[in-house]
Amino acid sequence: MEDKKFNPEHRNKLNNPQRLEKLDPQKIWEFINFKRPEKIIDIGAGTAFITAALGELAPKAHIDAFDIEPVMVAEMRSNLPEYSRITPHLMTDNQLPVNDEYADVVWMINLFHELRKPHLLLKEIKRVLKPNGKMLIIDWAKREDACESGPPLAHRVDEATITSLMVDADFSNIKTTEEFTDHLGVLGTRL
Ligand SMILES: C[S@@+](CC[C@H](N)C(=O)[O-])C[C@H]1O[C@@H](n2cnc3c(N)ncnc32)[C@H](O)[C@@H]1O
Repeated sequence: MEDKKFNPEHRNKLNNPQRLEKLDPQKIWEFINFKRPEKIIDIGAGTAFITAALGELAPKAHIDAFDIEPVMVAEMRSNLPEYSRITPHLMTDNQLPVNDEYADVVWMINLFHELRKPHLLLKEIKRVLKPNGKMLIIDWAKREDACESGPPLAHRVDEATITSLMVDADFSNIKTTEEFTDHLGVLGTRL
């Protein structure tokens, strides 16, 4: 099988400020619509570039930023200031080393198409979310006209597949948005 995983050697690309034009943090928060979260989890946080941009709009929250790649976790540790509200962690596949009902919000940005067993990660996210907690998936839209950048069309996951996996994992109030031009946003609530 062709490897869909992001190559950590290209990690500097993740820090391009132009990304925030297409992934506008303000619009992302409006879509999440969760007032004053205290605990946020970012899965597949990469260099924590998006983590930090989104985190600025949740000033009271602590953010646990997980990645499966030791190089990425090391990069986050060197990028973040000593007293940051963001804590980087290494994770193993589909396992978040946190207690049940820990987080108010979980997001994963540009990770979903890389997952080999997304149903297992969704189940794990359901476990760590508090009741009424929200999970946001933002990933590359599976549309020909959205392929100027990002992974090939064949690697992308369509809206119906993501939505049905979320239903299977028992998420409720599932909403989608195409407001992000090249990306699809899918939001679910853990009741
Ligand atoms: C394309 S990068 C996106 C990084 C970040 N979310 C952003 O948008 O800047 C995907 C990240 O997910 C990580 N990753 C891949 N598979 C993972 C998994 N199963 N669990 C956690 N992280 C994973 C990769 O190491 C990489 O850092």
